[in-house]
Amino acid sequence: MKKQTIIRITDTTLRDAHQSLWATRMRTDDILKIAETIDNAGYYSLECWGGATFDVCMRFLRENPWERLRQIKKVCKKTPLQMLLRGQNILGYKHYPDDVVDRFVALACENGMDIFRVFDALNDPRNLETAIKAVKKYGGHAQGTLCYTTSPVHTVEKYVELAKQQEAMGIDTLAIKDMAGILTPGAARELVTALRKALPDMPIQIHSHMTSGMAAAMYLAAAEAGAGCFDCAISTLSSFSSQPPVESVKVILESEGFQTNLDTAALTKINAYFKDLKAKRQPASTAKVEPVDAGVLVHAIPGGMISNLRSQLAQQDALDRLPEVLEELPKTRADLGYPPLVTPTSQIVGVQSVLNVLSGKRYSMVTDETKRYAAGYYGRTPAPIAPKLRKQLCGTLKPITCRPADLLEPGLAKAASELPPNTIKAEEDILSYALFPEVALGYFKWRKEGGPIPADQEATAGKAESVKVESSGAQATGGQQTAVKGTPVLAPLNGTFYRSDAPGKPQMAADGAAVKSGEAVCVVEAMKLFNPIKAPAAGKITFLVEHGKAVTKGQVLATIE
Ligand code: CO
Repeated sequence: MKKQTIIRITDTTLRDAHQSLWATRMRTDDILKIAETIDNAGYYSLECWGGATFDVCMRFLRENPWERLRQIKKVCKKTPLQMLLRGQNILGYKHYPDDVVDRFVALACENGMDIFRVFDALNDPRNLETAIKAVKKYGGHAQGTLCYTTSPVHTVEKYVELAKQQEAMGIDTLAIKDMAGILTPGAARELVTALRKALPDMPIQIHSHMTSGMAAAMYLAAAEAGAGCFDCAISTLSSFSSQPPVESVKVILESEGFQTNLDTAALTKINAYFKDLKAKRQPASTAKVEPVDAGVLVHAIPGGMISNLRSQLAQQDALDRLPEVLEELPKTRADLGYPPLVTPTSQIVGVQSVLNVLSGKRYSMVTDETKRYAAGYYGRTPAPIAPKLRKQLCGTLKPITCRPADLLEPGLAKAASELPPNTIKAEEDILSYALFPEVALGYFKWRKEGGPIPADQEATAGKAESVKVESSGAQATGGQQTAVKGTPVLAPLNGTFYRSDAPGKPQMAADGAAVKSGEAVCVVEAMKLFNPIKAPAAGKITFLVEHGKAVTKGQVLATIE
């Protein structure tokens, strides 16, 4: 025994692990049947809430995520509950006003959440401020986060500087979030050592994925360097693109003289339970995932992102272009200032790379999200974007340098006023709606009227798509391209056709309106991002497709005369 240090373990089985391996399809009943045993296993905390968990609960499982939290809390009295909070993005893909962030955190605390791991995809401290302040205000534990990535600007010094900024905001602990599983043991040792030196009193936790096969080895190196807590999953829900197996990490650490205080008998019981559940809950589509994605060691693109790219290309009937997209992606990421690849930047960079390849000319098609990203609406990019490219990407959108949320009007009262009468049962419902309007409305309707549960139907159909790769529903509805008069406006991609650029917003161009050449007149949503469609000529526009309908590449959306 060379040391007596205690290393704590966070269990991710109830959040990240089933998000990584089971398309987030674990149900509240599944959790409750084993929750007491998990609570008694000796974990530091139980991660059980996050963006996809919340969304899938309502969208596919027809469950109330707040109720899930309350139920877990009722059983798990010993072990703190933990959630992943996307800073100003809360659980969604965009910035929310401060009042929504504050109230969300307040209600999460009230319903039983203890530890909030707060992160920002760009590591922009301004996007963490409000959330961290709220967590402290309502008595939660605020864990700051460094999103780990590699690039010329992501140096150890830079990470130490970011950590110090978060320390000044009052965080209780600090997480290194290695979402892609690219943190090597050597780099972890170097980073943890530097952080321990610069912030000697700050406990450090590490989150990683086994995607590239390195995470368990990295955990040991980081423990030796002074990290005190690690994220693991029960073995049945571990490895592949999930966390390292807790049973193995326990033995690895103990063999080096660390203590984990985990109860082996409890872990065995928990694993037996999930082993049985696996047959019922693991979607067939994820069963054939490769055990180790060694490609990550070469190109650092996480497996989850590659499967998204694959499904996006499949939607565009262009699966054969995947190698080109994988080559393009690091270039797009460099152009965009080396953002870490995590929601939502992984989506923005991924889709822009796909468009750069499919359109034949880089940045000739730019999503609304890329435009807003370049203009500073997601926060400060880690490295600046070259001025000429930035100008091209922003187009008419004026770049900002302030904290993005400073531009947002308060949102809670507005969300409440938008809800149809007799829809909500508690204030929490307003937050569900503010975060996922369409999904929440679908759930509220189901709650009132009943009907089938989408996840049950998938189970019979034998397929479950991850919420991230959810298809925009592009079926081949083209083909009815009879002779059109005037200049046709064509769908550049398979996707869904919209007349406005956001749900609830007015039409971008009315039927019969005079439009200018180059003016955005409608939207094709593909790969979950909005692609504005510009008028190819000036004149009177006539739309041929109904709002919300699936369209195929090349289909005539409108004509201009
Ligand atoms: Co993760």
